[in-house]
Amino acid sequence: MRGFGTTIFAEMSELALSTGAINLGQGFPDTDGPREMLDAALLAISSGRNQYPPGAGVPELRLAIAEHQRRFYGLSVDPDRQVLVTAGATEAIAAVILALCEVGDQVVTFEPYYDCYAATIALAGATRRTSVLRFPDFAVDETSLRGAFSDRTRLVLLNTPHNPTGKVFSRAELELICSLAREHDAWVVSDEVYEHLVFDGAVHIPIATLPDMADRSITISSAGKTFSATGWKVGWLHGPAEAVAAARTVKQFLTYVASGPFQPAVAVALGLGDDMYHGVASTLQAKRDLLCAGLSAAGLEVARPAGTYFVIADAAPLGVSDALDFCRQMPSLCGVVGVPVSVFCDDKDATRTLVRFAFCKADEVLDEAVIRLSALAAHQARPTTTL
Ligand SMILES: Cc1ncc(COP(=O)(O)O)c(C=O)c1O
Repeated sequence: MRGFGTTIFAEMSELALSTGAINLGQGFPDTDGPREMLDAALLAISSGRNQYPPGAGVPELRLAIAEHQRRFYGLSVDPDRQVLVTAGATEAIAAVILALCEVGDQVVTFEPYYDCYAATIALAGATRRTSVLRFPDFAVDETSLRGAFSDRTRLVLLNTPHNPTGKVFSRAELELICSLAREHDAWVVSDEVYEHLVFDGAVHIPIATLPDMADRSITISSAGKTFSATGWKVGWLHGPAEAVAAARTVKQFLTYVASGPFQPAVAVALGLGDDMYHGVASTLQAKRDLLCAGLSAAGLEVARPAGTYFVIADAAPLGVSDALDFCRQMPSLCGVVGVPVSVFCDDKDATRTLVRFAFCKADEVLDEAVIRLSALAAHQARPTTTL
């Protein structure tokens, strides 16, 4: 694991703490999820559900996951054979990749990518082949994607809605990915943890709903994002029974089980009404608008995200040539912390001046961040300042 040292999030969070800067680097919400879910967890703890849950997850959660997939996407999933509850989406990703990949296999993914993808592919002894999504629209480049496939391709690791770009993959893009996967007899593993965080009427299309994909795809999600419970680490996957069985075998030796009393609570959350789901998206959309306006006013070029709770902004108009240096200076320049997008990339040049900011924060925090960010525009106005 050489090369996978301390993550940039640890460095930037420490920087925020030591300087009193507002931390828009790391993507965790600063408010709690639905009251019904929190109460259900308290009840589970006080009623003694504190020991190892079943290896595949508690039955009511597996049922709630299957019912959620039916309710929102019309998918038919067998809760007993096709669902596995995991320690967050992170463990689901690891269990699937370790289950499906042999040493020397290739995994196709898009970059920038969520940081655990590269590490997990490396742990499996596989190699990543990436296709770059380029600022500002992050569209899939067909030629580059085709070039990433080979006769060693074992699976495609997809993430929609996509962290860090905020992109929601279009149906045409997903169809292209699926047709290449079929051509190369590859699996598609789809990380959909931001499935409910979409804005302006954008539609999240689960990979398993595309023609003939239910049999060659594994879908991953998590309670962390939808229900603002990142610390509970309740995730899941579903797919064809044999693939789920293989992932379950790996999972036995990763954590075995996790999050006992939180599992029934997430089952309650998944069954909440449409209002709760719409509320999550509309609240975040307003926060997105607030932060995007602040970043633009500060002089950065913003790629307005259609989903997730991240926005990427280009600091080049401020005279920045290296976003990593800029992020290290941001606490003293304006008292806000972001993360350089290059840390999510193999091709550092594609994102040299881009910074990712999280907007899943209380409105007062975002209001204050916007005021502080305006100092960047003032710096820019002074010709002698170099950033
Ligand atoms: C794209 C993506 N996948 C997976 C995860 C991890 O999810 P969990 O906390 O449920 O392990 C994250 C968390 O930030 C993420 O952004």
